[in-house]
Amino acid sequence: MREKTPLIKIPFTLERPNPPFEAGEIRYPEALVRHFLKTYTKTGAKVFDPFAGLGTTLFVAEEMGRKPFGIEADRKRYEWVAGQLENWQNLHNADASKLASLHLPKMDFCITSPPYMPKHHKWNPLFAGNPKHAGYDKYLAQMTRIFKALASRMKRGATVVIQADNLRHGAHYTPLVRDLGIAAGASLTLQNEIIVEWQNPKPDYPYTHCLIFKNLT
Ligand SMILES: C[S@@+](CC[C@H](N)C(=O)[O-])C[C@H]1O[C@@H](n2cnc3c(N)ncnc32)[C@H](O)[C@@H]1O
Repeated sequence: MREKTPLIKIPFTLERPNPPFEAGEIRYPEALVRHFLKTYTKTGAKVFDPFAGLGTTLFVAEEMGRKPFGIEADRKRYEWVAGQLENWQNLHNADASKLASLHLPKMDFCITSPPYMPKHHKWNPLFAGNPKHAGYDKYLAQMTRIFKALASRMKRGATVVIQADNLRHGAHYTPLVRDLGIAAGASLTLQNEIIVEWQNPKPDYPYTHCLIFKNLT
């Protein structure tokens, strides 16, 4: 049967100011996290973001009475986010590929936005550009490993939402949503793809994608 892609509309409004050292950083808005936490979790649920960034997932989870857990590799971002969380001990300044060694509990829900890499670039954001790990293939291989480790930290039946965008740089097009979907699909089961249309969007950013997976192992 033909599945209709669900379309949801969410305001692209950043409710918390970014820190001055990341004023221009793109992150997803609080309303996106709120939508998925309302849909998939109850009070007290353990909510995980292995690429916590500026903490949107963790702040909204805490505001909604869920227990936030996260990983962020960048020291400055980690300190800024941890400094504002009640559950700051649950945020780790670490590489997400090492998540199996962090003694995290089994999670009820995950929403995350991985670092993006255009196909034609060599600089691999998962290794801070280390030339030994250059290139898109190595980026996808590492994302596949991270999603496998993530799956093993999720409760059976738990939902994982991956927010991502396809990328265009001039003549270069990167089907990142498809490729991250394949990487995650090696360990998690794809349930749906949601197109999120931003209300009041920036002119060059009208919509995004959310891939919805379940951990069925
Ligand atoms: C797209 S941002 C996440 C933004 C986040 N959703 C928010 O609302 O702020 C991706 C984050 O992953 C972090 N990161 C990059 N490589 C990482 C790794 N190997 N392990 C953990 N975090 C990493 C980056 O420093 C960045 O903050």
